[in-house]
Amino acid sequence: GGPFVAYSDGELVVEQVPIRKLAAQHGTPLFVYSQAAVLSALAAYQRGLAGRKSLICYAMKANSSLAILKLLADAGCGFDIVSSGELERALAAGAEPAKIIFSGVGKTRQEMRQGLQAGVGCFNVESLAELDVLNAVALESGLVAPVSIRVNPNVDAKTHPYISTGLKGNKFGIAHEDALMAYQRAAALPGLRVVGIDCHIGSQITEEAPYLEAMERVLDLVTTIEAAGIPIHHIDFGGGLGINYNGDTPPPADALWARLLARLDARGFGDRTVLIEPGRSLVGNAGVCITEVQYIKPGEQKNFCIVDAAMNDLPRPALYEAFHQIVPVQPREATAIEYDVVGPVCESGDWLGRDRALAVQAGDLLAVLSAGAYCMSMSSNYNSRPRAAEVMVDGEKSRLIRAREDVRELWRLESV
Ligand code: LLP
Repeated sequence: GGPFVAYSDGELVVEQVPIRKLAAQHGTPLFVYSQAAVLSALAAYQRGLAGRKSLICYAMKANSSLAILKLLADAGCGFDIVSSGELERALAAGAEPAKIIFSGVGKTRQEMRQGLQAGVGCFNVESLAELDVLNAVALESGLVAPVSIRVNPNVDAKTHPYISTGLKGNKFGIAHEDALMAYQRAAALPGLRVVGIDCHIGSQITEEAPYLEAMERVLDLVTTIEAAGIPIHHIDFGGGLGINYNGDTPPPADALWARLLARLDARGFGDRTVLIEPGRSLVGNAGVCITEVQYIKPGEQKNFCIVDAAMNDLPRPALYEAFHQIVPVQPREATAIEYDVVGPVCESGDWLGRDRALAVQAGDLLAVLSAGAYCMSMSSNYNSRPRAAEVMVDGEKSRLIRAREDVRELWRLESV
């Protein structure tokens, strides 16, 4: 879990706060985040981009907690948003509109209007049809939409197929071959002002090579587009940098960006503003999900450790067969047994970890690590389960940043 989640005196702490205390105070399942871990992950990017015209736009889909957004906004970040809900959240957390970029393949007219009126810094457009609609909405609103076109560099990010986005044959971006034509179209539309180019090749990328390859292809396009008389002010390289879930060794953000920027300079594009859209790598390893063991259920083929967190709280294992480390909050001196760690939801897909060696008893607390990204933000109320509470730790202090949902809130909008 890194230096911010560690054992101290035989129990797991987040920064200086024992998880045992937080669970006693707030109940389980509970997400706990380390403020220092978020800021330290951000600092690596800031070092990497130091001295550069640049903007880090946190991809808030990874974790859209207002407290996390505020922390990052105060630290100078912009935001990568994909819906009007995310726009309103970012603004509510104090984001500067000009530092917001609006991504997504399916923006509605309403979302475009709202983004324009708020004054977002850029719309990352993903199709010719969207260019036309955005132009029309801008003209109706009497505004000009700053645009970037998401190009698909056709690079294999070598990650899970569900989170790989830079290859031909997925719904994202405009094919490399069509990019010049799309830029010429954008430049000719009076409601649009071309400001940049963007790409995003996937998520949980653990190698440098796909980034370099995507950069080369995007820079080739910048050359072509500018030769056609359309200046490209900023280049947005997307997000995607992976984290260590289970011995993964992604390049550190500062080292990666030192290399990428060296290449950018070597190709003569060192004067452009660099934008990036990291999500997971800023928050993923800053969060843990605390859960209490409910039952130990031995079986002929498998032993089950049934906990009070489930696929609705932490859907990554069920969705992607993702691996999250699961560790005891207060380790016992006993022989470990292999368990499937499962939740109470009525689905066989409701598991958090398989074949995990644990020495546990009912009532023990477990911590699911690397749970800061794409866990709470993808949680649901399946099985009428109220969403978990969230706590932010800062040194010796902790504060509740989202109260546990009250079950009555789940049917507040319903009628019979
Ligand atoms: N920019 C764009 C346009 C994106 O689509 C994404 C993520 C990001 C930036 C941020 O990517 P990151 O730095 O977080 O890798 N739910 C999946 C991940 C889905 C990623 C979607 N797009 C998971 O739990 O692994």
